[in-house]
Amino acid sequence: MVIALQSVDNRHQDLVITPSPTGLSLQGRVQIPGDKSISHRALMLGAIAQGTTTVKGLLLGEDPRSTASCFQAMGAKISALNDQDVTIEGVGLGKLQEPQDVLNAGNSGTTLRLMLGVLASHANRFFVVTGDDSLRSRPMSRVIQPLTQMGATIWGRQAHTLAPLGIQGQELQGIHYHSPIASAQVKSCLLLAGLSAQGETTVTEPAISRDHSERMLKAFGADITTDPETRTVTVKGQAAQLQGQTVIVPGDISSAAFWLVAAAITPGSELVVENVGMNPTRTGVLEALARMGADITPENERVVTGEPVADLRVKASSLQGCEIAGDLIPRLIDEVPILAVAATFAQGTTVIKDATELRVKESDRLAVMATELNRMGAKISEFPDGLEITGETPLQGAEVDSYTDHRVAMSLAIAALNATTPTTIHRAEAAAISYPDFITTLDSLPH
Ligand code: S3P
Repeated sequence: MVIALQSVDNRHQDLVITPSPTGLSLQGRVQIPGDKSISHRALMLGAIAQGTTTVKGLLLGEDPRSTASCFQAMGAKISALNDQDVTIEGVGLGKLQEPQDVLNAGNSGTTLRLMLGVLASHANRFFVVTGDDSLRSRPMSRVIQPLTQMGATIWGRQAHTLAPLGIQGQELQGIHYHSPIASAQVKSCLLLAGLSAQGETTVTEPAISRDHSERMLKAFGADITTDPETRTVTVKGQAAQLQGQTVIVPGDISSAAFWLVAAAITPGSELVVENVGMNPTRTGVLEALARMGADITPENERVVTGEPVADLRVKASSLQGCEIAGDLIPRLIDEVPILAVAATFAQGTTVIKDATELRVKESDRLAVMATELNRMGAKISEFPDGLEITGETPLQGAEVDSYTDHRVAMSLAIAALNATTPTTIHRAEAAAISYPDFITTLDSLPH
């Protein structure tokens, strides 16, 4: 296997992957970067807590950098993000300063949506938030609408649904919101707004989404209760100051997923992916891969600052198609692109359903994965809420595009490892959003 990164202009890079003519097998141990969701939350809670928060193992990707720069612009003191160990001097609840300029969330939906809850509840301050081309086209009404019910004042493009957004902070009132979508971003936005609102703020979701906010808010001292049976969480407003904590960020299972699939589909491979966050609201990808017949064993299971963690040993095996649908979807929402790759190497049909949310991610991930993998010889049909993938199809190299979506770029790179001829992935620099070392790790894996 030969990997070459070529600059196209000062923004974009092509990744050219030439598979090994004799076939390759991946061996060894892989370290993955810190969890993106937990990194965002540690930076945000650290910024609005009293005192010092120490974060160990922070993801140094572009998305958490966007969160850090927004909160720095509002007075939080955050040490330089050139080390995974970061300290934050928080300003205290409700004490962020009005920034002097527009806050830019870059490519990060989590930054923008979670931050909106914090900003909307800062009375007498005005904020303008924006993001890159992708983020400015992603729906914001899912958070603006319930925040408005709480008393928030938010303006935006296209009838107040798209960024840039203007926010006039207000005293908010707690509500009970029955969310129509299982979205951790919606839930977390409202919980953060609820911290400073009058009374209680309750969110009920149709299926369980990731619960990192609930765990971390509890650890920082918020008055928060959860009822998993009814998928309901309640935070008491104006109840307690948040207190700075030490957060040890586990490795991101969404980043681990690329190596799990790479080893599962590449004959003769055996990898150990170290320090993988195993929060049950995130492990849907392991359940889907188990259904497909993947050989993955957790080792060294432990709990690190409230989050379960394990090393995952994965061995190549022959995969079968399966159905991925229903309540499993929110638990593997970011892994659908790489599962689509796994499915092209599985015998029989894989059906992915109930996944319309994929259409409003960093790209329309259903359309993009179907189009780009089909260019390589896959057999994928697209439906409004999912994909049908018929395997096993041998892949050939092709010219493909990430659409500036980090998970698409990395999924296509794993597909390219097992293609018969070289693949060029345009705009591959997108991988740095969540995994700055992805290409170096790929290149350095013993094979
Ligand atoms: C995230 C929630 C998910 C996920 C995103 C990160 C979070 O988004 O896709 O990558 O950190 O809360 P939704 O809440 O829109 O499903």
